[in-house]
Amino acid sequence: MRTTVGIIGGGPAGLLLARLLHRAGIDCVVLESRTRSYVEQRQRAGMLEQGTVDALHEAGAAERLEAEGLVHQGIELRFDRERHHLDFPALTGGHTVTIYAQTEIVKDLVALQLADGPPLSFEAAALAVEQPESATPVVRFRHEGREQTLTCDWVAGCDGFHGISRATFPAGISSSYAHDYPYSWLGIMAEVPPSGGELIYARGERGFALHSMRSSSVSRLYLQVPVGTDPDGWPDDRVWDELAARFAIDADWTLNRGPITAKSVTSMRSYVHEPMRHGRLLLAGDAAHIVPPTGAKGLNLAVSDVRVLARALIELHRTGDAQLLDNYSELCLQRVWQATRFSDDMTRMLHARPDGDAFDHRMQLARLRRITASRHAAAELAADYSGLPLLT
Ligand code: FAD
Ligand code: DHB
Repeated sequence: MRTTVGIIGGGPAGLLLARLLHRAGIDCVVLESRTRSYVEQRQRAGMLEQGTVDALHEAGAAERLEAEGLVHQGIELRFDRERHHLDFPALTGGHTVTIYAQTEIVKDLVALQLADGPPLSFEAAALAVEQPESATPVVRFRHEGREQTLTCDWVAGCDGFHGISRATFPAGISSSYAHDYPYSWLGIMAEVPPSGGELIYARGERGFALHSMRSSSVSRLYLQVPVGTDPDGWPDDRVWDELAARFAIDADWTLNRGPITAKSVTSMRSYVHEPMRHGRLLLAGDAAHIVPPTGAKGLNLAVSDVRVLARALIELHRTGDAQLLDNYSELCLQRVWQATRFSDDMTRMLHARPDGDAFDHRMQLARLRRITASRHAAAELAADYSGLPLLT
């Protein structure tokens, strides 16, 4: 098989890149190791920056997002049994964010691609990228029980944190920077209306909790739990009791409880791989970097990488100018490090460290109080949360 851009991974990064290239007349092929239903059901992100919404518009993939996405005007911070609203439009000059699940973005992009897009193969696992330094790198992959090859002009490694693309970089040119946080998240999906219109980030001595949603009838909630937690050790009543304790305030507020339909534990890590390009292999999204989920930046970062990458490939295709492609890694990494810094700040400010002492606790409260007391500090958080500057 031969194509211009071989895309490894059919997550949000790979699928969006395929759509943007296809609309610009550049042919590509997407190889996805899992089944269609697996990638469409995998519960993950939900909060979209405006730049991510704009990118889905550009890709012609925002029809259902427009109809069903929930536009949010801010978030709530909870600590010391009090609630504090951060009004994003007022603090940022008009920014909002949108709740629309990653599962739905993936479903929309898969449906478009299968209807009129470039080839997309499920259960096609890339095994290796060969000769990335040459003019025609080759992706070796397994599909329908046999090994096959895809010869490309460019290869986009969009295969997430556990993919094979990053491992293709020679050790001599790779640097990676990582931090593992000493806690995890237990995430649940529940068939119950959200307990209010806003996302709530709550910090207490019992640990962090996050209230989010998927629709007017489905809630998405997260609880800080110890590393190594088995979700089976958390029967539904225990989850609801713990969430209610962590969100408790000295005012009238009730947590809505209902049937829990999914429960899973996620570890928390920051990781950045430099550079994001080797020869004709370009990494995008979780394949190159991951952030702890507290700032809701992972999917948004994947989308901003893809916007730059699509623009760079389109520019090369139309004008022969490779400058943006040559700057791809440097340009993306600037934003990646800012998102990593923001996600790390949010994570450290809101979680109780297992080895934390009274001093740590006071420092976290001082950081939170600075945000609620200073318009300047609140505006900085609101600007970072609602959209780090786009690079395109
Ligand atoms: P992925 O979604 O991981 O996609 C990679 C794809 O490549 C997968 O489909 C995989 O099956 C495939 N693949 C892997 N190896 C191969 C191979 N060898 N061959 C072929 N295919 C392969 N981000 C936000 O912005 N906002 C949030 O609110 C948010 N909340 C989150 C909550 C949780 C609990 C978690 C876990 C993550 C959250 N994130 C959030 C992060 C976000 O989900 C990821 O950053 C996002 O999925 C990255 O997209 P991607 O396409 O780069 O990678
Ligand atoms: C969601 C996840 C996050 O990590 C976050 O910070 C906000 C919202 C969500 O899944 O809705």
